[in-house]
Amino acid sequence: MSNSRPDGSSSETVPAAPARGLSRRRLVAGAGALGVAGAAAGFFTGRATAEPGEAGEILDLSRRYEFYTGGHQAGIATLPQRYCVFMTFDVTAVTAEAVKVLLARWSAAIAQLMAGLPVGSIEPTRSGAVAADTGEALDLAPSGLTVTLGLGPGLFDERFGLADRRPRLLEDLPELPSDQLRPPLTGGDLSLQACADDPQVAYHAIRDLARMARGSANTRWVVLGFGRASAGSGQTTPRNLLGFKDGTRNLTSAGELDEHVWLGDGTDVDWMTGGTYQVVRKIRMDIEIWDADDITDQQGIFARKKISGAPLTGKSEFDTPDFSATDASGDLVIDPTSHVALAAHENNDGIKILRRSYNFTDGINDLGQLDAGLLFVSYQRTPASFIALQRRLGASDRLNEYIAHVGSGIFAVPPAPTKGHFLAEDMFA
Ligand code: HEM
Repeated sequence: MSNSRPDGSSSETVPAAPARGLSRRRLVAGAGALGVAGAAAGFFTGRATAEPGEAGEILDLSRRYEFYTGGHQAGIATLPQRYCVFMTFDVTAVTAEAVKVLLARWSAAIAQLMAGLPVGSIEPTRSGAVAADTGEALDLAPSGLTVTLGLGPGLFDERFGLADRRPRLLEDLPELPSDQLRPPLTGGDLSLQACADDPQVAYHAIRDLARMARGSANTRWVVLGFGRASAGSGQTTPRNLLGFKDGTRNLTSAGELDEHVWLGDGTDVDWMTGGTYQVVRKIRMDIEIWDADDITDQQGIFARKKISGAPLTGKSEFDTPDFSATDASGDLVIDPTSHVALAAHENNDGIKILRRSYNFTDGINDLGQLDAGLLFVSYQRTPASFIALQRRLGASDRLNEYIAHVGSGIFAVPPAPTKGHFLAEDMFA
């Protein structure tokens, strides 16, 4: 099985590299990894019985992505890893120089972390010395970790003298229909998205980067995401917590990414070339209410079949929906207020965004209900694309009965640096 999508393309930006060092534990598990299934006996038994050719998965924890590519940051077009920790920060430093130092230190640390290495020494060199790395990922493989940095609108206010460097389209999102945003889950001067196939590796990265920021930036809000298929062979479309395949019609080919995601030469401020804009929404789901709804109604809301993911007008997952098809009584098969009809590029002047979302849970709410939802993350070359889609969805989507947008953020994502440089360095030039 390969990583390729229906159109034969692969969104993997950097080829997997072998893990460095024998001390790094390499773990492979899943249907295609019967050779090691014995070692993982019990836990992986269910998967190890998958028939060849069945949608199984191989979790290659030795996978490692390069940081210093000088191209796009990893974690955007990279095949989604299984887990994500997304955190935003308020900058407390008062000078541009201090922001620069933070971004330089973060860049060096991210390069280490993505290589599967500690951010600094943990040797007890002298009495009273604090370890540079907190240590909880020491015996773990790189796990396909990517850390993606975003710059929020607040960074370009009057505080740091960076106002004239502001990315052209970076502004707070306007109020959107059905918004139920909670201030503590909204905004941030900086964002970090850490994704990995091991949750401890993703969490360790954010923890150590947050620790490094102390004195310059405070944590603001965080979401712990899970639920993607592994970024390995046999990746199938993952399901959201409403039980539907999520990500079927997404951007895949390099051509589509160039057209809809990456900022080309001259399209924005120079230092953003190769970058993009990130929109993040924390969307709560009323899971209990959804679970009480019948499957036919659920399918009508998405205009897709629950099991196969096929559009209601098609037979298999990747069939193109036919928005004008009618049934025997002359009614449209796909409800124009279904989620897919409202979001599809055919009905939105060709607008396309790259969705890279994760499920999340915060446990149980005050009413004793499951507190969970979707960490919606999209990348697009203009925030106007997200805004246009959410205006339509927020106003009329049948799904709105079951969801609430409670958190939100927008960030400019600069390109990756080359070796010897750091993220957004040219912003200070
Ligand atoms: C909890 C919230 C949401 C859920 C559960 C959800 C779920 C889904 C599902 C199941 C699909 C169909 C499968 C697919 O093509 O991926 C879909 C499609 C899509 N969604 Fe969402 N979505 C949510 C929020 C959003 C938001 C906030 C946006 C953008 C503002 C969005 C944009 C899209 C787009 C563009 C498509 C593809 C439509 C097409 O071309 O067929 N979704 N979503």
